[in-house]
Amino acid sequence: MNVQSEPRKHMNGKSSPVSLHGTNENMTSEKATDVAMQDTLLTPRFYTTDFDEMDAIDVSPVREDWDKLIAQMVSDPNKGHFKKNEDWDHVDWDGMEPELKKEFIDFLISSCTAEFSGCVLYKEMKRRGSNKDITQLFQLMARDEARHAGFINDALREAGIAVNLGFLTQQKKYTYFRPKFIYYATYLSEKIGYARYITIFRHLQANPEHRFHPIFKWFEEWCNDEFSHGEAFALLMKTDPKLTKGHNVLWIKFFLTAVYSTMYVRDHQRPAFHDALGVDPDWYAHEVFTKTSKLSQQIFPITLDIEHPRWQPNLERMQRASVTVAKGKQQGGLGGLIKRGIGMAQATRAFIALYTIPANKHVVPATTRLEPAY
Ligand SMILES: [Fe+2]
Ligand SMILES: [Fe+2]
Repeated sequence: MNVQSEPRKHMNGKSSPVSLHGTNENMTSEKATDVAMQDTLLTPRFYTTDFDEMDAIDVSPVREDWDKLIAQMVSDPNKGHFKKNEDWDHVDWDGMEPELKKEFIDFLISSCTAEFSGCVLYKEMKRRGSNKDITQLFQLMARDEARHAGFINDALREAGIAVNLGFLTQQKKYTYFRPKFIYYATYLSEKIGYARYITIFRHLQANPEHRFHPIFKWFEEWCNDEFSHGEAFALLMKTDPKLTKGHNVLWIKFFLTAVYSTMYVRDHQRPAFHDALGVDPDWYAHEVFTKTSKLSQQIFPITLDIEHPRWQPNLERMQRASVTVAKGKQQGGLGGLIKRGIGMAQATRAFIALYTIPANKHVVPATTRLEPAY
């Protein structure tokens, strides 16, 4: 799929604006792309790294598991999956409750950007590298993420919106991360992505009356792709034991705390969306963190203690702080600036309180490979 050139026609052609009733706001492809362009602490970013260092990875220490994983990805079990078929029910965008519509579109734009962020990074690694193992893996992962982003864009297109992925590739800011930070952050985002998709899928399997859009039916096979991507990063980290030892454990804890708390805050910004799904966002967060923690024991020697008495109250503090920051931004002027400053200080304090909760320690197994079990 050519994701780079495909969406341009939607920006050049006139896309029909979608009326978000009650919000006095017209969401268009241009606005959707603007949303995807945003770089805040809570929005998905694009990353770049030291590609030469990554290209130099020798996968010999994990060769057996590596070859099995690659063979499975080459067999491409989801080749035909990301296409609309007879299971794709008609979506009544105009009849959708306005607040839900607004939040759901925001969810789709944010998910599309996150999927595409993976695609951009993986594709670049494939382009720059010369190590056959590494370039093959990254090409396979870029293939999957392009499908994922394209499929979400297909769903958005029915609402008259498309994120201009070609424009994003050229214009969105790239954040530099050292390779080891890419491993921690990307491994976690793949595994938490799996946990998020499968938790929603299983919930809607049990409660189909809450499935207000057909895209959720696609989540089961979808999350298996993310699972494999996470497995690949676990193997990459396994090639260098230093990455999960010593002071790096503090970095792992930092990324765990950042990824979990960001998810919590972001999800709590979409109450109507979770209400429509029949999902309590606190239950959902706890469920996703539990699954992700269980999985990440395959490679990380610690997990966060999400049952600790300081955990939930500080997530809530962080959430309230983010509301203060958003209000300050909206208000503008000196008053708004002060409000933002207060909110940032509160968020930092909550983050430190979360980060300093003693972690649970684990013995990491000799081989990492897992299969999706949820
Ligand atoms: Fe994906
Ligand atoms: Fe992925």
